[in-house]
Amino acid sequence: MDKIVVTGNGPLNGQIPISGAKNTCLKLMTAALLSDEPLTLTNVPRLSDIKTLGALLESLGCEVALLNGGNVMALSAGTITSRKAEYDMVRKLRASFNVLGPILTREGEATVSLPGGCAIGARKVDLHLMALEKLGATLTLEEGYVHAKAPEGGLIGAVIEFPFVTVGGTENAITAATLANGTTVIKNAAREPDTVDLCKCLSAMGAKIDGAGTSTITIEGVDRLHGATHEVIADRIELGTFMIAPAIAGGEVELLGGRRDLVEAFCGKLEATGVQIEETDKSLIVRHDGSRLKPVDVETEPFPGFPTDLQAQMMAALCFADGVSVLHETIFENRFMHAPELIRMGAQVDVQGGHATVTGVEAMKGAQVMATDLRASVSLILAGLKAEGETVVGRVYHLDRGYERIEEKLGAVGAKIERMPE
Ligand code: UD1
Repeated sequence: MDKIVVTGNGPLNGQIPISGAKNTCLKLMTAALLSDEPLTLTNVPRLSDIKTLGALLESLGCEVALLNGGNVMALSAGTITSRKAEYDMVRKLRASFNVLGPILTREGEATVSLPGGCAIGARKVDLHLMALEKLGATLTLEEGYVHAKAPEGGLIGAVIEFPFVTVGGTENAITAATLANGTTVIKNAAREPDTVDLCKCLSAMGAKIDGAGTSTITIEGVDRLHGATHEVIADRIELGTFMIAPAIAGGEVELLGGRRDLVEAFCGKLEATGVQIEETDKSLIVRHDGSRLKPVDVETEPFPGFPTDLQAQMMAALCFADGVSVLHETIFENRFMHAPELIRMGAQVDVQGGHATVTGVEAMKGAQVMATDLRASVSLILAGLKAEGETVVGRVYHLDRGYERIEEKLGAVGAKIERMPE
């Protein structure tokens, strides 16, 4: 397996193109199961998670073809040949659980493995199941699988109220409701750009959806959905990640395809540390003179709040700040695994439950580090941009799940970063 070696190397300058959003693309792929006509996705990121879900969709009978060097994906689920998503597939990728809504609503039944635990917490699916039950599904749990059966004649529109925001749960409910009989109203729905983009794609396929991007989404069921072509939205987490690079190393980096509205709360916090952000009609430009950042307190929240997926990267920046910052993780209970690794590089971080207190230091030193999830891994690379000497990040497969050609993108703006065999 490969490792990534980063050597602290001064300011970064240049442009980085932002890829299509991984988390969005995964949910868009599940939408292909709703129609017997082809769905074509453009601006698809070339990532291992995308291939993993592609393999699951193939196992259900959906044809999946990557075109144009992997940037375009043609999906065609003429016939669903299997209604069962196996454990071996689902355990690798939690988003796989979102095939449940589409298969159930189209086929009248579906069996999907429970995803199991993951490195950042329990990540339950009870609210996904609550939503499908509200739509009339009968659920049984057997040997680690959820078996869902729709009433004779299909799912029935209903009012679904989530007690707190769940992105995956909202999206499973939306896809299931598109082909249900009657109207579904989802209250306390996720407002994430990913969910909005999914609704946009479903609408292009003929779904009747109102209120995407607000807390109340209304879906009027239709008899069938048709084919469509849809461009995957820019990846706000990749955008935020690369915005932190010049905040740490100094310099001026233009993030092509970046939009401030995708990361508004994050931009506010980054600006509070002293970093400059300029929005153009095609990009965000981030400038920093390399002086020590100001400390800032951060609390993760559902969109439009500060994203949990940028908490680790923000911590990497705040490790170098001139003062004390507190990070409060409210979405996942076990999402500070990067802290012990940053500490090995000389950071001063104290984790107590969902809070991490970061006392900024003037300098950190490169070390051999590894992390157990995607965003934690990338935070170590970001810290390595300024740490003295070499930072060697192992378990690169985590990075390949979510960052397309990270060493090329950071290398192009002057970072000293290499992928090497371990
Ligand atoms: C979450 C993030 C999303 C991020 C994605 C990938 C939020 C609100 N969600 O989405 O922004 O892109 O991870 O890292 O920031 N929960 C339950 N029961 C359920 C479903 C969820 O208790 O049935 C809990 C989860 O354990 C978690 C919270 O609700 O504490 C939010 O989870 P959810 O939004 O569903 O997670 P993802 O869809 O994976």
